[in-house]
Amino acid sequence: MDKNYYITTPIYYPSAKPHMGHAYSSIIADFFARFKRIDGFNVHFLTGTDEHGLKIQRAAENKNIDPLKFCDQISQTFRELSETLNLSNTDFIRTTEDRHKKTVQHLWSELEANDDIYLSKYSGWYSVSDEAFYSEDEIVDKNGIKVSEASGSIVEWIEEESYFFRLSKWQDKLLDYFEKNPEFISPKSRKNEVVNFVKGGLKDLSISRKAFSWGIKVPNNSEHVIYVWLDALTNYISALNYPDRSDTLFKNFWPASVHLIGKDILRFHAVYWPAFLMAAKIPLPKKIYGHGWILSGDEKMSKSKGNILDPIDIINTYGLDPLRYYLIKEVSFGNDGNISQDRLEDCINSDLANNYGNLCQRVTAFAEKNCSLKVPKIKNFNEDDLVVLNKFTENLSVIRQEIDKQNINFYINFIVSALFEANKYFNDQEPWKKKDDKDRLNTIVYTSLEIIRKISFMLYPIIPDSIDKALKIFNLNSKDINLESIASHDYLKAGNDINKIDILFKKIEKKND
Ligand code: MSP
Repeated sequence: MDKNYYITTPIYYPSAKPHMGHAYSSIIADFFARFKRIDGFNVHFLTGTDEHGLKIQRAAENKNIDPLKFCDQISQTFRELSETLNLSNTDFIRTTEDRHKKTVQHLWSELEANDDIYLSKYSGWYSVSDEAFYSEDEIVDKNGIKVSEASGSIVEWIEEESYFFRLSKWQDKLLDYFEKNPEFISPKSRKNEVVNFVKGGLKDLSISRKAFSWGIKVPNNSEHVIYVWLDALTNYISALNYPDRSDTLFKNFWPASVHLIGKDILRFHAVYWPAFLMAAKIPLPKKIYGHGWILSGDEKMSKSKGNILDPIDIINTYGLDPLRYYLIKEVSFGNDGNISQDRLEDCINSDLANNYGNLCQRVTAFAEKNCSLKVPKIKNFNEDDLVVLNKFTENLSVIRQEIDKQNINFYINFIVSALFEANKYFNDQEPWKKKDDKDRLNTIVYTSLEIIRKISFMLYPIIPDSIDKALKIFNLNSKDINLESIASHDYLKAGNDINKIDILFKKIEKKND
């Protein structure tokens, strides 16, 4: 089995500081990267910034700064955000780096050599905000202003000499590929959207601009810069040292396991990118997953709408792990989700502080009084113990399968129900009434500790920092986590020390409580 896993986030425009939508893409990708790592995979996790194009050039001009200096500053805030979000990325790419520019120019030459590029003239609509070309039927009139129907962003008319990519040539091959690889575009609803778009007819794509200079130059014609999306998408292979196909990174990690993106940039990833790759005879990524949006009110958060929630503010108020937990649990993955402070506080109080944190405290406090803070020795489990323990054994392969389908909802629901059952088990078994039956008391404590361990291992990809703290109970740390072991019932060794730990999550006093 291929034990390499390559996951990418979109590379972010450093046109403004990061917001919750960006944090969401990154946190979800980090969840998958960490899950795969504890399951024994060799993981490459890439994120970065998309720094060329007119959008960035204009943003820099507005501030009167040289575009590269401007990008240096904002790219740095994205790098810092990666740290603040505790991302376990193994690389951070900037499209202004030489390694990237070289790959983009090489890819261009390959497309040209294969007769997929020709010089002509573009006249049509362009949105600088989306860095996208739109056809007449995708444009609507809003109070006398032409905007893209899909994104609502303003479009401008451009007419200039431009190189074109023969996208139309790839229409049938793309449709054929989508049919033969039904999971390639996920979730299903997104696939339908893309298939309909391609069936509607693909026109050749303008892939160079002449009217501005902030970009990678077209080889052998420095009057043109390469279209920013051709430039940006290539990051996924420039970070693996393409065109050196014998490079270890490229050999191990291409094709990517999954490009995680927001649904608004599906067309670029599921139509243009595969067509470029096919034309260059490079294998296609295994999956493009388009997640939903984080809404603020009922609208997508964006700078132009002025409804941005700052992830840093939320983290400063509540901490990082509650935010990670909340986004993973409450935004049904694949769909849009509304973010609410009230629900975030509920998650902290009920799931994290009560069901998880308090269970850890109760069981260790009980073990302190009754088992001298040692893992107790046991004789055998009874039916009740086995029911709660076996839940993990029986579901291990299902958990793996569901994660390979990006079914985060299954994963979090499994944890929530396991926590509920663990608390119920400890309450129902009433170990405090078993002081005369030491064997039974020990077995209940052992079973409870094992369940806490299993749940903690599973929670690690969601709340890594808190789990590092929780694992001190067993003198373990996150490096010891191995998913396979949630199937075993004898991981904890009798006689080993148990430690008391500080409170993991403080309850929030709610105003309406
Ligand atoms: N630079 C391009 C991506 C190039 S990838 C080769 C881009 N950048 S972006 O900064 O505008 O957006 C990056 C990602 O953030 C996209 O996946 C987008 O969907 C996501 N989000 C931006 N706002 C969002 C929400 N409000 N909610 C969830 N994600 C959204 O597009």
